[in-house]
Amino acid sequence: MKAVEIKPNIFWVGAVDWNSRDFHGYSIKKGTTYNAYLIRDEKTVLFDTVRSGFKNDLLHHIHQVVDPAKIDYIVLNHVELDHSGSLPEMIDLIKPEKIICSPMGHKALLEHFHRPDWPYMVAKTGDSIALGKRTIKFVETRMLHWPDSMFSYIPEDKLLISSDAFGQHWATSERFDDEVDPHELMAHAAKYYANILLLFSPIVQKLLAEIKANGPEIEMIAPDHGLIWRKNPTAIIEAYQRWANQEARDKAVIVYDTMWHSTEKMAKAVASGLQQEGINSVSLLHVRKNHRSDIMTEVLDAKAVILGSPTLNNNLMPAMADVLTYMKGLRPKNKIGAAFGSYGWSGEALKQLNKYLEDMEIPAAQDGVRIKNVPTHKTLKDCVELGRSVAQAMNKS
Ligand code: FEO
Repeated sequence: MKAVEIKPNIFWVGAVDWNSRDFHGYSIKKGTTYNAYLIRDEKTVLFDTVRSGFKNDLLHHIHQVVDPAKIDYIVLNHVELDHSGSLPEMIDLIKPEKIICSPMGHKALLEHFHRPDWPYMVAKTGDSIALGKRTIKFVETRMLHWPDSMFSYIPEDKLLISSDAFGQHWATSERFDDEVDPHELMAHAAKYYANILLLFSPIVQKLLAEIKANGPEIEMIAPDHGLIWRKNPTAIIEAYQRWANQEARDKAVIVYDTMWHSTEKMAKAVASGLQQEGINSVSLLHVRKNHRSDIMTEVLDAKAVILGSPTLNNNLMPAMADVLTYMKGLRPKNKIGAAFGSYGWSGEALKQLNKYLEDMEIPAAQDGVRIKNVPTHKTLKDCVELGRSVAQAMNKS
């Protein structure tokens, strides 16, 4: 890879991670990038570093632009280790005059690296620093994605360096939105939102409202993962507005596990009931065949989330509990729910599924369906009815 000039004298100098497939439990089937940016002005500034193990890629790209020893400031927009893992080595090498971070970033850096001797400069929202021809304005963006997160905005270039926000986990040799398939790009961005930021949607709504009301003019958004929004930054801002509002479409997802296919037969009957009432977009997602992060991506714009599990050892199937723990943490909103499952003798799973729905504040369209052992055509009718009642609730909402 090579350094890429994204604006005059502003460069992408990050690293492409082609081979990682897991990002703390999120399946990144096409790798990711750790984007870092460099401004060459009267002061030379590096924005963020890269994950530990990728320092040589970062250095290789910086060397193509400037001698790393000439870097004056490091701005660390986010302390999570995918952006700060190589910070100690970079500081040893560069010996920067300032390490600029948010107030919460300062605390987090001390807690991660235990180096009170580093030359910190704490920047709050509204603070700025002059570089020569350019200025950096700082905006704290707490919880997007950690309490320490902040944006750096360069008004002279109308450039927003947005840390995790507006990112995607996708390793590519291209650097810009207009160089890749826009549908694939938006699919990666949606998966990223569903799995990283959904929980923080109320904060995203507030931030977008602020940008709309008083916000800076944005010509380019340069996130810390994936492609840079050069051609149409409005497209990702509008998508974030929809996702943060948790806008749902007429789509149902049936998330289930099955032991000997009884619960699977029930899932198919529920799907048939949904279709009978005009819901044509229905996905059946077996939790041991679909990664939890892909299931969450499907849930993002679904109006109904229907859960199915047999009872195993008086509990849900363990893979179902995994997905539901994850889903509950991400707090999907504006959904209608329902639950079903087969059982052999005790049948606790249905109650547990309904409890998950209650905890997620997803109203159940009805009490749910439990079938002992193997369903028949007659008993499957209850599952068809379940699907129909969910569809009727969807049609009313
Ligand atoms: Fe890309 Fe929250 O780190």
